[in-house]
Amino acid sequence: MKIRTGTLAEHKAQGKKFACLTSYDNQTAQIFDEAGVAVLLVGDSASNAVLGNRDTVPITLAEMIPFGRAVASGAKNALVVLDLPFGSYEVSSAQALESGFMAMKQTGCAAVKLEGAKLEQIRALVDAGIPVMGHVGFTPQSVNALSGYKVQGRDEQGAARIMQECKDIEAAGAFAIVLEMVPSELASEITEALSIPTIGIGAGNGCDGQILVWTDFAGLDARSPGFSKQYVNLRKLLSDAASDYVAEVSAGEFPTKQQSF
Ligand code: KIV
Repeated sequence: MKIRTGTLAEHKAQGKKFACLTSYDNQTAQIFDEAGVAVLLVGDSASNAVLGNRDTVPITLAEMIPFGRAVASGAKNALVVLDLPFGSYEVSSAQALESGFMAMKQTGCAAVKLEGAKLEQIRALVDAGIPVMGHVGFTPQSVNALSGYKVQGRDEQGAARIMQECKDIEAAGAFAIVLEMVPSELASEITEALSIPTIGIGAGNGCDGQILVWTDFAGLDARSPGFSKQYVNLRKLLSDAASDYVAEVSAGEFPTKQQSF
């Protein structure tokens, strides 16, 4: 079944939790799509996960576009969302619209995500027919302003601010909100207070959906955040396979007649 923004709203109404993963390429998009992952986020985490940058700050929209196109063409059913990177929407709604149109026209993705309560930008994008996913709590593009990777909304004032941001983002027209690194209790309260679905990452079990960065979930990165879960150790599998290949080539055992013409 093709997942659309309305499908996620139906899932919330029916109390049906859904799984989301990041993806940056065609093959993982096909695999995760076939496995029933509801949302594939072409995250700006591609900055560190794929391009080897320290964080998500350096990646540009031009660099995101090929990743978005690869994922959109690999996914048959999943809703594919492209992250608008740092510097591509904050200045004005005109800038957000320019980036949003470029994202939609050049990738085939069905929605965009942006960080923080950028209400004017969200309204402008939604009015233009571009579905928007919000993202609050720890917002990685603001890692420098937030002084590092820290749980947000631990105190009463911080929690109230995040709750208000979520309500404002919902009122601005977003179809879902990512809650990153916020206390489970706060995430559950937000999930109850909103009519749009919440998608948690490091936000406990009370959200409507969950999202993981696929290179963390598959153990491809040497280090992964404490809130993530490694479902397979792909780094070890690939490393073992590469060592076997090196050994067989060195020993003259590959290729055999079977792999030769
Ligand atoms: O870019 C990304 O991977 C994200 C997730 C952390 C939600 O925004």
